[in-house]
Amino acid sequence: MELVLASKNPKKLVELDTILSQLGVQVCFEAQAGVDVEVEETGTTFEENSLLKAKAVMKASGLPAIADDSGLCVDCLGGAPGVYSARYGGEGLDDTGRYRLLLENMKGQMPRTAKFVSVITCCFPNGDVISARGECSGTIAFAPMGEGGFGYDPVFFLPELKKTFAQLTAQEKNAISHRGKALAAFREKLEEYLRLPGKTRESTYET
Ligand code: IMP
Repeated sequence: MELVLASKNPKKLVELDTILSQLGVQVCFEAQAGVDVEVEETGTTFEENSLLKAKAVMKASGLPAIADDSGLCVDCLGGAPGVYSARYGGEGLDDTGRYRLLLENMKGQMPRTAKFVSVITCCFPNGDVISARGECSGTIAFAPMGEGGFGYDPVFFLPELKKTFAQLTAQEKNAISHRGKALAAFREKLEEYLRLPGKTRESTYET
């Protein structure tokens, strides 16, 4: 089965591609499927935004499309930046600017506990939808550490490993990350879905 990956974030695409290709699923990027869709993330939950992205690319390409909506939820900031993680601080900031702003906004605040959330959604042209969620808990470091990964990785600290996400190899990160966990749960649902006879499939999953 061929799936289109509905994302324009190259680093996220590499993570999704690496994990999904281990499932024996053939993935292609939007450009390879001949689509270029700008999706406005108007949802207030990771589930809503993930569905919006997957549905738009599925409709444009005519192929099953899979999207991840993810973000960082910090407890002492009431769950912010959450679904606004990619837009935290406005358009002018890059990844470094965003995590610096986060550190600034957390000055003197406790606790520094946080979690990454990822919701993976796959929309099929027949209207079927499969969705899975993964979370990874940690704390926000006082200063960035490490060079790997992307986004908030340099400040997302895993107390049990005494490392940030940015200090892990890609393999180590995928094994414990929110996206890795969401994809593992997604894999089980996809395998179950593919085992169902066509008729049952349509009535089994929400559209
Ligand atoms: P979106 O899902 O494309 O709306 O953006 C999610 C945003 O959350 C990214 O741009 C990052 O800022 C952040 N994010 C999501 N997953 C990760 C991760 O694994 N590491 C670091 N930052 C992440």
